[in-house]
Amino acid sequence: MRVDERRFYVTGGGSGIGLRLAELLAARGAHVALFDLRLDDDALRRVEAARATRERRVSRHLADVADSASIAQAFRQAAEEIGPPDLVFNSAGISCPRAFADLSQEDFERVLRVNLFGTRNVAAAALPLLRPGSKLVFVASMAAVAPGYGYTAYGTSKAGVLAFAEALRSELAPGGIDVAVVCPPEVATPLVAWSRNVRPTPTERLTRFAGSLGVDEACDAILAGILGRRFLVIPGRRAKLAYLLSRSLPKRVTHAIADRIVSRALAEPGARR
Ligand SMILES: NC(=O)c1ccc[n+]([C@@H]2O[C@H](COP(=O)([O-])OP(=O)(O)OC[C@H]3O[C@@H](n4cnc5c(N)ncnc54)[C@H](OP(=O)(O)O)[C@@H]3O)[C@@H](O)[C@H]2O)c1
Repeated sequence: MRVDERRFYVTGGGSGIGLRLAELLAARGAHVALFDLRLDDDALRRVEAARATRERRVSRHLADVADSASIAQAFRQAAEEIGPPDLVFNSAGISCPRAFADLSQEDFERVLRVNLFGTRNVAAAALPLLRPGSKLVFVASMAAVAPGYGYTAYGTSKAGVLAFAEALRSELAPGGIDVAVVCPPEVATPLVAWSRNVRPTPTERLTRFAGSLGVDEACDAILAGILGRRFLVIPGRRAKLAYLLSRSLPKRVTHAIADRIVSRALAEPGARR
């Protein structure tokens, strides 16, 4: 897919992966619409400063992906301002890494509402604006393919995103609309900076198994992946290997490896459960 003069909608565009991807797209000549709960002037300035030329437009829209009316209204507004999207990148998401015994029903539902129902709402808002040749990209996670300790809510939501994307791909392919899903390993974003201070030690150690990427490195790989025709985009060599192992080894083997990492983590002095 070409980027120059194409229109890209990025949810979660105010931070982390969404913000960096928006900068990269703007630098390649795209028109970009940013959607987020909060979008400060600094985020907007970063994307505007990255623009290839001043003719390229950047619009910002406050919207909650967990609220279908809010995101649908924001997409309609963006379509009026910069035109319908050639590619929608749904990066809005939250995490709540906690052992299930300590996870409230409210937190569980909040994670599913934003990550899974948010994915549904973004797809529904985008659908009337898409044409043959356009593309929908959803950000899931390595936790979708190899969920572990601390990720009952997050892993469930992201596995749901993966299944949703695969089913939707099958429905939209005959009309020439492409669907892809990105499964990043840990990426050093504000979400992770926060999460490192609260997540259980076993979650920390399991996450490291698939490697950790800087935002620039991750987003370079994500951009290359989503501009191609692949359905599943996994940034990072170590993450690709972890994915292949999780697919090819019997569960008893992957579970034995994970259980060993968990029991060692729990035995660490001061381990968080
Ligand atoms: N970073 C990682 O290690 C990693 C790994 C795998 C997958 N992912 C996924 O990648 C995506 C981006 O994560 P990130 O690390 O870039 O996180 P981030 O820096 O926190 O960026 C996510 C953005 O989405 C926004 N957001 C949260 N809930 C929203 C809602 N209901 N409606 C609209 N926007 C909302 C956040 O706003 P607030 O800051 O106000 O919440 C934030 O600006 C997420 O889907 C995440 O699950 C991240």
